[in-house]
Amino acid sequence: MAKPKIQILVCTNERPSDAIKPSCGTRGGLDVYRRFKDGVRARGIRDHVMVVRTGCLKHCSQGITVNIWPNNHWYRGVTLADVDEILDRSVMDEQEVERLQMPDIPWE
Ligand code: FES
Repeated sequence: MAKPKIQILVCTNERPSDAIKPSCGTRGGLDVYRRFKDGVRARGIRDHVMVVRTGCLKHCSQGITVNIWPNNHWYRGVTLADVDEILDRSVMDEQEVERLQMPDIPWE
């Protein structure tokens, strides 16, 4: 793989069930990550798009958090059903998916 032009960061951080803060891993972050991987493969863009599992992206209360670089698109509450739309609009067309935009809030 050449240097990626686009990176899709998916939080898969998992906290214990008795933790005070919620975490993306316990909400299905790993499944979302895998769906992004499958979607990138299906679109034939693996040569320039990398999907990365990450630790906490500091927006834990917002549901599964996804960030797309280099355009710095932040998404909240991402579900399996949202992945294709994010890939088609945010990655392929470089347009933000407004309905999933992360609010401008402090890091948690
Ligand atoms: S656990 Fe995912 S943003 Fe904090």
